[in-house]
Amino acid sequence: MKAILCKEYGAPESLVLEEVPSPTPGKGQVLISVKACGVNFPDTLLIQNKYQFKPPLPFSPGGEVSGVVKEVGEGVKHLKPGDAVLALVGWGGFAEEVLAEAVTTLPLPAGIDFVTAASVMYTYGTSYHALKNRARLQPEETLLVLGAAGGVGLAAVQLGALMGARVIAAASTDEKLRVCRELGAGETINYSTDDLRERIKDFTMGLGVDVVYDPVGGTFAEPALRSMAWQGRYLVVGFATGDIPKIPLNLPLLKGCSVVGVFWGTFAKQEPEANLKNFQELLLWFNKGKLQQHLHGTYPLVDAPLALRDMLDRKVVGKAVVVM
Ligand SMILES: NC(=O)c1ccc[n+]([C@@H]2O[C@H](COP(=O)([O-])OP(=O)(O)OC[C@H]3O[C@@H](n4cnc5c(N)ncnc54)[C@H](OP(=O)(O)O)[C@@H]3O)[C@@H](O)[C@H]2O)c1
Repeated sequence: MKAILCKEYGAPESLVLEEVPSPTPGKGQVLISVKACGVNFPDTLLIQNKYQFKPPLPFSPGGEVSGVVKEVGEGVKHLKPGDAVLALVGWGGFAEEVLAEAVTTLPLPAGIDFVTAASVMYTYGTSYHALKNRARLQPEETLLVLGAAGGVGLAAVQLGALMGARVIAAASTDEKLRVCRELGAGETINYSTDDLRERIKDFTMGLGVDVVYDPVGGTFAEPALRSMAWQGRYLVVGFATGDIPKIPLNLPLLKGCSVVGVFWGTFAKQEPEANLKNFQELLLWFNKGKLQQHLHGTYPLVDAPLALRDMLDRKVVGKAVVVM
């Protein structure tokens, strides 16, 4: 089978497409013939050896897949060859076949196609956990989303609007902000050209925002924190700029606000039942057409490095998906 391989850490251009042996499922595992694999920011970090998890070299990036079960390992009861499934694999998905743990492999829900199935778990799972479980976002509250046209950002925009919040989307281009408006943002801020704090003041009549969703970090974090309402919640989601901000601790004191960490992967392991409930709610919204993935585009396997390059160059709006 063909696989995109990271043989040495580096930029997307250092990845190679090679023929490798088909893996055999061990106890509790399934072998999936991959149909589609979502592209996520952590993939770009894994190949540069900058992520929390460090798979041994060589490995294929690609953390969430959909496909068809080819073989099942010992003890797997709820899946059989031929079943259409989606799975969280962490890495290995930019390949024609991947091994997945049966416990994190779910039957493909009715009405959901392979491309959508491979591209909603990370982003909507993270953003729903952040807004529902961590921020406890309430209807009528104001939600500021930074990096709002990215994968997790656009999911947060849609979910915030669905949960009844007033959503302010902030991103770097007017075209990105147009998509955010289409998907539920009531107000938008181009943070490449506008003053973030001034615009937030205008939109909230000086009151500030109740919840900040921050997957970007860098220089936007402090002005966003300074723009919070009393008893606000600042969600620390990620650092796409590469800079982990250092925050003066007097700010949460003065604002009476909370700085709240979000780590969806660990939440899913620590609280599997709460995570499953979130997924059931998300899938229901997808089935009813209340949530829609904004697909940036699909890339054939050979172009998976280009998908990662586009993500690093801030060209991806919504989700990029690698298809076999
Ligand atoms: N905590 C968790 O559980 C969790 C789960 C999933 C992802 N994450 C993290 O969330 C962050 C975003 O992930 P994603 O999949 O949504 O990525 P993405 O689709 O690439 O979106 C990231 C956004 O950040 C902005 N950005 C600003 N500076 C950037 C830079 N130097 N390079 C790249 N993007 C930059 C871009 O928007 P503009 O061009 O509009 O500024 C981009 O749309 C990542 O740090 C990821 O590791 C965290």
